[in-house]
Amino acid sequence: MSLFSSPGQVAEALAGSGYLTDQAIATTVFLADALGKPLLVEGPAGVGKTELAKAVAAATDAELIRLQCYEGLDEARALYEWNYKKQLLRIQAAGDQSWDETHDDIFNEDFLLERPLLAAIRRDDPTVLLIDETDKADVEVEGLLLEVLSDFQVTIPELGTIAARRRPFVVLTSNAARELSEALKRRCLYLYLDYPSAERERDIVLSRVPGIEAALTEQLVATIGALRGLEIKKQPSIAETIDWARTLLALGLDTLDEETVKATLGVVLKHVSDQQRAVKELKLG
Ligand SMILES: Nc1ncnc2c1ncn2[C@@H]1O[C@H](COP(=O)(O)OP(=O)(O)OP(=O)(O)O)[C@@H](O)[C@H]1O
Ligand SMILES: [Mg+2]
Repeated sequence: MSLFSSPGQVAEALAGSGYLTDQAIATTVFLADALGKPLLVEGPAGVGKTELAKAVAAATDAELIRLQCYEGLDEARALYEWNYKKQLLRIQAAGDQSWDETHDDIFNEDFLLERPLLAAIRRDDPTVLLIDETDKADVEVEGLLLEVLSDFQVTIPELGTIAARRRPFVVLTSNAARELSEALKRRCLYLYLDYPSAERERDIVLSRVPGIEAALTEQLVATIGALRGLEIKKQPSIAETIDWARTLLALGLDTLDEETVKATLGVVLKHVSDQQRAVKELKLG
C-alpha cells in the first residue's frame, strides 16, 4: 500500500504540512515508499532531517514512532523487554502451580513491554518509524536494525516470529558522527540533505515565519549565505535562519543593517571565534 503516487505529489503533500522539498528530496521519499525501503538521511545539523520524517507522518496521517538513539541504547530499549516486576508478582502468586505452567503464564503478551521497533512493526495503521541520530548508537544496535529492517520481522524466543502486518515508512537520520556500516546502508535509500538553495530557504522562512517582509527575508537569506561561505566552525542551519527571522520580527525591524547583524549574531553563530571572523570578514566592525 503506497502512501504517495508520484514525486510531485510528495512535494505537494509535504508542502501542505509545512515542509518544502526539492526534486531530490521528493523523488527519494517517493522511491523509499514505492520500493518499501528505509530512507537514510544524512547531513549537517539543523537541515531538516528529523523534520522530514515528521512531515511525512503529518502529510499521510500516519502515526510517528520515534526511536531516539544514544550511546548505550540496547535491545531492551529499542525492541522489547519483559516486565520483570510483573512476572515476579505472578510467580509469587503462583502457589503450588508447576514451574512449566508458571513459565508459560509469564512469557506471554501480558508481560511484554514493547519498545519503538516492535511497536512500529505490529501496527495495522500507517506508521512512520523515525530512527533518529542512528550514528549516536553503538555499532551493536546496527546489527539489531539490520535484522528488523531487512525482513521487517522480529523473533522473540518465547513467542515466536512476529512479522510486520504493514511495513512502516522508515526514516533513519545521521549526522555522520561515525560511518554507518555498509550492510545497513545497502538496505536503505540514501538522501544527503545539505543547506538549501537561497530560493528554497527564502520560501522556508516565508512559510515558517508568518508576517515577515519579503525584502527582509531576501536580505536575511543572502546574509546567511555569506556566513556559510566563511571558514567557520559551525555554519548556520535552517533552524537558525528561522530563529533569526523570528528575532528580527520580534525586534520590529524591517531591514538588516550592519548594526542589527552585529547585535543579533548570537542567534546564528554560537562560537565566539565564528562571530569574530564574521565581524571581520563581513566588515561589520
Ligand atoms: N525543508 C524544510 N521546510 C520547512 N522547514 C524546514 C525544512 N528543513 C528544516 N526546516 C526547519 O528547520 C528546523 C530544524 O530541522 P531538524 O530538527 O529536522 O534538523 P535536523 O537535520 O534533524 O538537525 P539535527 O542533526 O541537529 O538533529 C525544523 O524544525 C524546521 O522548522
Ligand atoms: Mg534531528
